[in-house]
Amino acid sequence: SVRKTYRIASIPGDGIGVEVTEQAIRVLKRLEQLLGTFTLDFHNYDWSSERYQKTGEYIPAGGLESLKNHDAIFFGAVGSPDVADHISLWGLILPIRKMLGQYVNVRPIRVLPGLSSPLKNCNTEDLDWVMIRENSEGEYAGQGGITHEKTEYAIANDIAVFTRRGIERTMRFAFETAASRPRKHLTMVTKSNAQRYGMVLWDNVFNELAPQYPEVKTDKMLVDAMTVRMVLNPPSLDTIVATNLHGDILSDLAAALAGSIGVAPSSNLNPTRRFPSMFEPIHGSAPDIAGRGVANPVGTFWCAAEMLAWLGEAKASQSLMEAVECVCAGGIKTKDVQGTANTLEVTEAVIRMLEMDL
Ligand code: NAI
Ligand code: MG
Repeated sequence: SVRKTYRIASIPGDGIGVEVTEQAIRVLKRLEQLLGTFTLDFHNYDWSSERYQKTGEYIPAGGLESLKNHDAIFFGAVGSPDVADHISLWGLILPIRKMLGQYVNVRPIRVLPGLSSPLKNCNTEDLDWVMIRENSEGEYAGQGGITHEKTEYAIANDIAVFTRRGIERTMRFAFETAASRPRKHLTMVTKSNAQRYGMVLWDNVFNELAPQYPEVKTDKMLVDAMTVRMVLNPPSLDTIVATNLHGDILSDLAAALAGSIGVAPSSNLNPTRRFPSMFEPIHGSAPDIAGRGVANPVGTFWCAAEMLAWLGEAKASQSLMEAVECVCAGGIKTKDVQGTANTLEVTEAVIRMLEMDL
């Protein structure tokens, strides 16, 4: 059979983003050698806060166009104490998500073997969720402004934008995800008691679509009550669909409940495959631990597995995830998940596990 080559743009970004992507690429290159069935052709982009401070730009002219010429994007994290967070987010990650049509953000989470939830009696089989976050509009649509800035009369607004098409395409993806999972259960999150227009449109589209997926059981939650249910009754949830803001917040909570923000992956998908999708851990650049070599690389390894699956390399994806789970189960873990290993030791353990298995 023909050996496939995938062109991957890697954007390590800032802080621990650089540390974890470097190790994940090492793991991927070893996996490529061991399997011998595909080639990963990485192109590194130095788009970072350092670059912004030198040149005034995160993404140089023509940069987004050049990303389109890839099969996937592998992203670390962006953010620096020296640059305001709204500048870094809007300078790098949000333009990529928006301009490449990555309209769903898929965030699987579960309690990996060997890791423990801060919740009592919450084991691997009790917390196994996929959160589908709308990734193109809502509260992060980018509309708004400020008038009378820096005076006591300052007026600021961010307009939450919800479109029927934006909601429907995300919900269809969520129904299909739920249908593909054993429990076939979808929970939709809104705040449609307080927000009477956009959130009610979410409710209405959900009610219209549900009969088209009769195999999927559904329920609805208000976001405040959802935080309680996630903490008190994790086994009652399976697939979750939420707006951009709610999905952002709930997925950090989900990661913490599964043991650490450092283990959670996310896929910014363009389900039409017209442009490449982007894979990134959900955490940020973690300036508090950056440069010390102690960041948990597991979330980024899980992202790598998600990327391989999206590219159609199911066996490679599964082998990688199994190796990561074996290493966690064996207790080779970073401090955020009650271990003593550093980033490099976890990485090398995963590589050794792959070498033994393949
Ligand atoms: P953060 O996720 O960077 O860190 C939150 C806490 O979790 C910190 O105590 C950190 O040490 C810990 N942590 C995060 N990832 C870890 C890992 N892999 N291993 C061990 N511990 C880990 O969020 P924070 O502090 O709110 O933001 C820091 C910067 O990152 C900001 O500039 C922010 O804007 C940016 N950010 C970027 C994101 C992205 O690139 N997609 C997402 C979230 C934040
Ligand atoms: Mg977030």
